[in-house]
Amino acid sequence: MTNPINIYIYPEVRLHQVNRYLYSHFIENLGSCAYDGIWVGEDMDIKNDGGIRCDVAEAFKRISVPIIRWPGGCFADNYHWMDGIGPRKLRPRRYNIWWEQLETNYFGTDEFMHLCEMIEAEPYLCLNIGSGTVEEARSWVEYCNYSHQTTLANLRKQNGHPQPYNVKYWGLGNENWGCGGNLRPEYYADLYRRFATYVKRTAGEDTKLIAVGSYQGLQDWDERFLTAMRGAYTLVDSIALHIYLGVGTNDLDFLDDDYYRLIASIDILERELSRAIGLAQAFSMYGHKIDVVMDEWGTCYRQATVEAGLCQQNTMQDAIFTAACFHRFHKLGDRLWMTNKSEAVNTLQTLIFTKGTKMILTPTYYVYELFRPHHDGYLVPCEVTNIPVFTLPDKTDHHALSICPTISIDGKELFLSILNFDLSHTVIANIQISDASGWKVIEVRRLGTRDIRSHNTFENPYQVQPEKISNDKFDNLSSFHFPSQSITTLRLKRSGI
Ligand code: AHR
Repeated sequence: MTNPINIYIYPEVRLHQVNRYLYSHFIENLGSCAYDGIWVGEDMDIKNDGGIRCDVAEAFKRISVPIIRWPGGCFADNYHWMDGIGPRKLRPRRYNIWWEQLETNYFGTDEFMHLCEMIEAEPYLCLNIGSGTVEEARSWVEYCNYSHQTTLANLRKQNGHPQPYNVKYWGLGNENWGCGGNLRPEYYADLYRRFATYVKRTAGEDTKLIAVGSYQGLQDWDERFLTAMRGAYTLVDSIALHIYLGVGTNDLDFLDDDYYRLIASIDILERELSRAIGLAQAFSMYGHKIDVVMDEWGTCYRQATVEAGLCQQNTMQDAIFTAACFHRFHKLGDRLWMTNKSEAVNTLQTLIFTKGTKMILTPTYYVYELFRPHHDGYLVPCEVTNIPVFTLPDKTDHHALSICPTISIDGKELFLSILNFDLSHTVIANIQISDASGWKVIEVRRLGTRDIRSHNTFENPYQVQPEKISNDKFDNLSSFHFPSQSITTLRLKRSGI
């Protein structure tokens, strides 16, 4: 235990809103993410709605997924959308060159849109810039969004969808500095100008076009791309970063120091996002705002190989990492408006695992569930005295506690998430709220385990799940215990409301 610390919260000051789009997701035709994980087909013994697994859709619905990105990933720049529409038996079979598997094209545009409808998420489609044509990209927009009597809009109607899908978010390629064609930023900018001109004209001014941005090893991409877009900045609404951390370490068999390093490496993520936000601000001109998104992020361990379908285990470490990242995202303000966890089912830092008829939720899933009240709340200032630290082998100190308070739009509820990163010390804190209105704790939930490597399996699916802590223990706000390696959330209501 450490000495009691004081947490001061100032709910009378609203900083900025926490965009619920930060809690968005990403799926790809990769391994068993789309196939088996989401799409099982109508004839399967697994409960489905038009071929989409109901258990997975319900799990997504419970966490209010704002946006889902599809079809990739690397798959997107080798995907030809017309392969994936019409009667399934007639769809061409292709080889997925990136993920080395057969692609039946059974999970195509209309199936993806059906998933979005089922879970009430908005679609975000990634266009093929690397190996596709401008006309192919433009015509996908027409198929999805037109209500005119064009041949493509009529084709969508024939395929059972009379109403346009009105897809608002379009990505122009994926990692075009790598699997999307190994392009230089200047050449990508030239392609971008061409594709974006026709896509925007077809989709309309309200559409948001998202350009490929950097990853942490390629920082000059963003600046060179934006410089090369001179004279056409209105075609860029956002630049999309990809950041994977934990690379080279193990999913389960990691050292305590690997865990601490992973938590400390979140500084990299914040630095990269801040850099991109600064650039986006600098290149926002003539009344046109350029924003930043991070449409792929998460842990990527040694076990996530192509042969394994990029499947890796998901432990309490992943949950704490995710919660800590959200605390940083919340602080970055409205220039970072969306992040998409990579990837939602069976792949990388997944939320859900499926095996035949079974489905289990991972520790990462529960962070999305616990943090649901942060969606659209206002960040409020918070100060901590005497904050504990953990020390890495390189002798650098890092905060062992992270706190994020938000207040609901109507001002009636305060929501706190408190993370204790330390692997052995409980933190005891006094919480003091500045305004005099008197707050009452109405719910305390906690995700925590004795072992940071704890995870859920098909045999033991509830090893890690949030528990509700009895309110009686918290009739005042002093001496809260935050156990080691835990995520605690507190909901408070103004008394008298
Ligand atoms: O998410 C797996 C892959 O990681 C994506 O396809 C690609 O964009 C990234 O490199």
